Amino acid sequence: MSKIICIFGGTGFLGKYVTQELARAGYRIKIATRYPESAYELKTYGDVGQIVPVACDYREGGDVDDLVKGCDAVINLIGILYEKGKNNFARIHIDVPERIAKACAKHEVKSFVHVSALGIDKAHSKYAKSKLAGEEAVSKAFPKTTILRPSVIFGPGDGFFNLFAKLSCFLPVLPLIGGGETKFQTVYADDIAHAIAKIVRAGAQGKQDYQDKIYELGGPEIVSFKEIYGRLFEQTNRPRALISIPWGVAKFQGAILSLMPKPLLTRDQVTSLQSDNVVSDKALTFDDLGIAPSAMESVLPEYLSCYKRGGPFSGEKITSF
Ligand SMILES: NC(=O)c1ccc[n+]([C@@H]2O[C@H](COP(=O)([O-])OP(=O)(O)OC[C@H]3O[C@@H](n4cnc5c(N)ncnc54)[C@H](OP(=O)(O)O)[C@@H]3O)[C@@H](O)[C@H]2O)c1
Repeated sequence: MSKIICIFGGTGFLGKYVTQELARAGYRIKIATRYPESAYELKTYGDVGQIVPVACDYREGGDVDDLVKGCDAVINLIGILYEKGKNNFARIHIDVPERIAKACAKHEVKSFVHVSALGIDKAHSKYAKSKLAGEEAVSKAFPKTTILRPSVIFGPGDGFFNLFAKLSCFLPVLPLIGGGETKFQTVYADDIAHAIAKIVRAGAQGKQDYQDKIYELGGPEIVSFKEIYGRLFEQTNRPRALISIPWGVAKFQGAILSLMPKPLLTRDQVTSLQSDNVVSDKALTFDDLGIAPSAMESVLPEYLSCYKRGGPFSGEKITSF
């Protein structure tokens, strides 16, 4: 009988990669979501009945406990970038993960992987503080938890490169927040999915190698925000002027933009950008998981060519087959 995994937040960007990877490995997967219809496309990643979207009410006394019951492994990918009404950082990054971790302890699941974020132990944003408090809460509730802290994640469907590529299609000038010196170690979504699959497989085999550990996941290169624009322009062939925005001005802009229903930038995100987002010296990394992370160059062309000036085939010679 194949193992059962429940993925909370499986409908998101990273969730699609994780679901595909685990489906390929033969697991049966429950996608816990507030909107099951948003998970229907995930069913195509597996055989008939292998991937099942299940409605989840995350409130106290809701469905979390029932969903975790009977699972061999549980993965939490739930996260938000800004607060709106009841969807605040404390609820989404601390209360809900703690509820999931408590259910994992109660039902004795073999492994629980909680996806957090890189740099949260150094940043001063509300986002970072809530993610850090969430890590503490899940570790206390289920000490065997494996915590993954990825840097900014790239890959088809990402919200980072795609956003700036779209903006570069119609804006003549792009912003360099705080001068664009903040450093990132962007990481490929598929590499994180491989890491999760490896941790789940080890747990299913009764191995404890990856349990009660925090892994900081970054790609092979450290690049500044300014350099990231360079990589983007190389792919899209749409070089744009860059204008440096001082931190104070960016925070003011963030405060105004956060009034939008889906803000492009918030004051809190500007605060996050004031700290580098790179793997720390003593951290456990991809290396300790036996995974060689992919470089941006090998993945960006795959999905940024649609933003290329003149279309994806512009500048390419036609060759005969
Ligand atoms: N993307 C990145 O660059 C990046 C970088 C570092 C860390 N991370 C972390 O990695 C994880 C996955 O990121 P992602 O980019 O895949 O996120 P995403 O695409 O925004 O998806 C997040 C998931 O969170 C769930 N969610 C959102 N609001 C919720 C709420 N109020 N109640 C319950 N569930 C809610 C959604 O599930 P339903 O709508 O289906 O319920 C969604 O599937 C997150 O924890 C994120 O913080 C991401």
